[in-house]
Amino acid sequence: MSNEIAVVSTWDQFRRQWDSRQNFIVRGELFPFQLEPPSAAEVIETMLLDEKTRVLQKKGDGNVSIGEPDDGPPNPNMNPAYEPFPQFREMPIAEKLKQRASLAHFDFGEFTPLAPTFNGMIETIDRWYESLTKHGFSWDSSQRILFLSGPGCNTGYHFDSSYVLAWQLVGVKRWYWLKEPERWCDKEERRQKADRYDLMTRPEGITPDDCHSFEMQPGDVFWNVMLTPHWVDAIGDATYSVNITHFHLRCDGRLSDIDIERDSMQR
Ligand SMILES: [Fe+2]
Repeated sequence: MSNEIAVVSTWDQFRRQWDSRQNFIVRGELFPFQLEPPSAAEVIETMLLDEKTRVLQKKGDGNVSIGEPDDGPPNPNMNPAYEPFPQFREMPIAEKLKQRASLAHFDFGEFTPLAPTFNGMIETIDRWYESLTKHGFSWDSSQRILFLSGPGCNTGYHFDSSYVLAWQLVGVKRWYWLKEPERWCDKEERRQKADRYDLMTRPEGITPDDCHSFEMQPGDVFWNVMLTPHWVDAIGDATYSVNITHFHLRCDGRLSDIDIERDSMQR
């Protein structure tokens, strides 16, 4: 099977491919925005100004299997390989940058009045929304999520319930996803596990040949199809990206088949 990763660089192409089952790299006129991003250190300290920032630490010695459940009570919103990390806030920044810490804020647009650090990112996201609207898309709700990962962090195998535009800003993250998502994650699997991050485990038997992977460098942008399994490793030093989610995304008023399926599961 081909290792070729799809690249979408025009709005015409995007309108044809946004609802396919294959993820793709976004380039060109779709996302022409340039930004000199704030450093990882500045982003960490700014995120910690808000108590809604979730701070977790990877458990164990770093050998936790990707997506494997660990001990502790299940939390449907959390990868079980992580635990709360309250000590993080008290560390000097040089120490914070070395930790296997995962920081997330699920709508960092809320920061803008207090934190000029994020203004450029927020403005860029607003321009993305304007472009989407101009090209026939609408959606019911969205989130602007900031994910910062220390060295050695990974997300584990999972799938999300919305379309995601991932924008890499500082450092490197390697994304992995499946060439044949339906083979490994069929409708019944999606029905049982959607939104249950504590239940999502990587199926036995997936080999590197069954996966695509792409190393996201600063400025790279990626389209992740909803309910499609993927996992992301932080490579090297502390790294962060913005994930823009789109719930009930429509093109010319039409939902994707997978979104219609998701709605039927909830009834
Ligand atoms: Fe994800």
